[in-house]
Amino acid sequence: MRTKIFIAIFSLLSITVITLFSSTTYESYSSLYDAEYTGSESCKGCHPIISAEWENSPHAKMTREPTQESVVGNFNNGEWFLPEYARKTPVDFVEPAAKMFEKNGEYFMALRHPLNNQFIPFKIEFVIGYQYRQTYITREAGGVLRRLPLQWSVPRQDFFPYWNYQEKSEPSVQDLWAQMQTLNSAWNLFCARCHTTHLTVEEKNPQHTQAKTHWVDEGIACEACHGPGSQHNNYFEGNYVNRVAAFVNSKLRDQPVAYIANAPKLTKGQDLSVCGRCHGADIFTTSTDVYRIYEPGYSRKGRTNDLSKHFREAPLQAGRTQATIECWEDSRPKGIGMLFRSFVESDCYQKGEVRCYDCHQAHDNKKPTKENILKPSEVSNDYCLNCHTNLKNKIEEHSFHRAGTSGSFCYDCHMPNHILSMVSGVDKLLPTHTMSSIPNPKMSEKLGVKGSPNACNDCHYKESTSWAIEWTEKWWGKTVNSE
Ligand code: HEC
Ligand code: HEC
Ligand code: HEC
Ligand code: HEC
Ligand code: HEC
Ligand code: HEC
Ligand code: HEC
Ligand code: HEC
Repeated sequence: MRTKIFIAIFSLLSITVITLFSSTTYESYSSLYDAEYTGSESCKGCHPIISAEWENSPHAKMTREPTQESVVGNFNNGEWFLPEYARKTPVDFVEPAAKMFEKNGEYFMALRHPLNNQFIPFKIEFVIGYQYRQTYITREAGGVLRRLPLQWSVPRQDFFPYWNYQEKSEPSVQDLWAQMQTLNSAWNLFCARCHTTHLTVEEKNPQHTQAKTHWVDEGIACEACHGPGSQHNNYFEGNYVNRVAAFVNSKLRDQPVAYIANAPKLTKGQDLSVCGRCHGADIFTTSTDVYRIYEPGYSRKGRTNDLSKHFREAPLQAGRTQATIECWEDSRPKGIGMLFRSFVESDCYQKGEVRCYDCHQAHDNKKPTKENILKPSEVSNDYCLNCHTNLKNKIEEHSFHRAGTSGSFCYDCHMPNHILSMVSGVDKLLPTHTMSSIPNPKMSEKLGVKGSPNACNDCHYKESTSWAIEWTEKWWGKTVNSE
């Protein structure tokens, strides 16, 4: 045993030495290549630690089959009644609009039919999400995976009619059924490209009633961010010279590794496209089809690995109300689908090198890269001060709030909670990702704090906007409130 380990270490060392001094010992490879998607199982053997981190992440668990663990909604004889104001017929008062139940390990949502009041059961094939809300998917004979109209709200601990909430419309039994006829209710044709890995649509009809689709992984897996891996796997499978050489070249020389894309080693636009292809919902309002040819890392004919020329293509329209891609009255991004856009709007991104995975872990995406970097704190201050070194040790001079207290942290004024997420049936505000934004109470005075909120009045909500104008101008000078 000992000698085996010794031989292993010795050969590892000598291979390292050889590869350090010559580049001919490992196979060369081309930067243009064809590869197939092989699925996350195929990466586990060589990348066990990263795979384990990823397995517990919201990305990994986005699309799952229904089980006791994955179902978060109440399927233990759950019921959902129309809200009182929306009950129109006598039956609406005594019968729920839907019943949810489990039978022999299978899960069902039964919708009351508007004509005969019979409950028609739909078997749940997949559950989508679990953190804030959960969507339920049923399989139709034509191959469409159909989104059912009631979703589970985690904060409310109840079902809710998601689309009525988003669109502020009144739910009814007829309307719930109608929601299963819209084009966007065909989950595998409309939603799944952002909830699975490498979704392929082989066939579909314009009405979205027929579909043939498949994917390599349920959920957002390795190849969604790193591109297809078959060549990478082949290159390293059983070839220890290639492995050691790649390890050395990658870790010591920061060179790319064969046949796989790694965001930080790509150009700035390619790097951010890896996340933007799913998080940048508004990219696809103008360039509706670019996602079809996008693949991370690939630069071959007919494909693109860079969406950055589309990042800011959709105009920011003052007061846009379209659900999830709304704008404030002052035209700043507002809806959750605009969070990515708000990041791109930042001077720190345009003129600097900020990246999503500075703050969010790439693999366990629920976790911060450092403790407390996801909130106003000394740690997040240090992040900003890495680049804005001129403000180091000048926090009080710059912010006019006592260092270490609320109102003095960079996020307090520059990343205020101005992104609205309505997805869970309960409104929640998240930090804008325009980290270079500057509080502008004058704009709030013009458009109202509801149309144009500012960080000062968010906290000092008992004070007027003119109070905030006065103090900002006293502290930072007359030019601070641009119009
Ligand atoms: C047979 C072993 C093997 C398999 C299977 C494998 N890899 Fe790798 N991978 C390596 C080695 C060796 C390296 C270079 C050393 C390192 O970075 O750990 C590497 C590096 C990487 C890198 C870093 C690239 C860079 O330029 O920094 C990524 C990303 C990656 N692999 C993704 C994957 C994905 C995704 C899969 C599954 C589709 C996969 N790997 C399967 C051996 C393997
Ligand atoms: C352009 C990519 C994209 C499309 C298309 C898309 N989503 Fe999502 N979805 C996301 C992203 C990104 C998030 C997480 C952050 C957020 O809410 O924006 C998310 C979050 C969710 C969640 C919440 C997950 C949780 O754990 O709480 C559900 C449920 C969901 N989407 C369902 C849908 C349905 C149903 C559709 C189709 C009508 C759809 N999505 C279309 C990208 C997309
Ligand atoms: C949501 C996108 C995403 C997913 C999914 C993802 N990765 Fe990554 N991965 C990244 C990013 C971004 C980086 C670069 C992180 C950094 O440098 O801070 C990275 C880095 C890596 C590296 C290089 C790590 C190093 O220390 O140099 C490897 C290897 C890797 N990923 C493998 C995998 C494997 C295997 C899976 C699936 C189990 C996976 N990734 C899933 C985005 C992703
Ligand atoms: C294939 C689509 C896809 C890609 C690519 C993708 N994401 Fe996501 N991301 C999602 C979806 C869908 C969710 C919602 C998961 C949930 O909430 O259950 C999500 C959620 C998140 C969250 C929220 C976690 C939380 O606290 O709720 C973060 C942060 C995140 N992604 C960061 C990234 C970063 C960084 C990248 C690029 C390295 C990336 N994502 C690439 C689809 C994607
Ligand atoms: C300077 C640090 C920082 C950077 C860089 C950053 N974020 Fe965030 N992000 C945050 C903070 C802080 C929150 C709020 C976390 C909370 O409230 O728990 C957040 C929240 C989110 C959420 C919402 C999770 C939820 O609760 O619904 C998503 C999605 C997200 N970020 C995606 C991204 C993406 C995509 C990028 C790159 C385009 C990015 N972030 C870059 C700090 C950052
Ligand atoms: C990777 C470097 C980097 C990081 C990290 C960074 N920034 Fe920036 N930031 C820049 C650059 C570059 C500019 C543009 C400077 C210029 O135009 O002179 C900028 C501009 C700004 C501006 C000025 C906008 C204006 O109108 O003059 C503010 C405010 C700002 N950043 C705040 C922040 C905050 C707050 C953080 C932390 C959440 C942060 N930055 C993190 C690089 C960075
Ligand atoms: C109490 C609110 C507040 C806090 C907290 C705050 N800032 Fe500012 N910051 C402002 C205002 C207001 C301006 C605009 C000043 C102007 O236009 O002259 C500004 C301007 C800036 C600028 C651009 C001009 C310059 O001075 O370089 C940068 C960069 C900046 N802040 C970074 C930071 C960083 C980094 C932190 C955390 C250490 C921080 N700010 C904390 C309110 C704040
Ligand atoms: C994250 C919350 C937060 C933000 C954002 C914030 N402050 Fe404050 N501010 C505080 C707190 C907390 C105090 C301390 C109150 C105390 O000690 O009585 C304070 C104190 C003050 C005071 C002195 C006490 C008073 O009420 O007369 C002024 C003036 C003030 N802030 C103005 C501003 C202005 C102007 C902005 C925007 C540039 C701003 N603040 C942004 C939280 C905040």
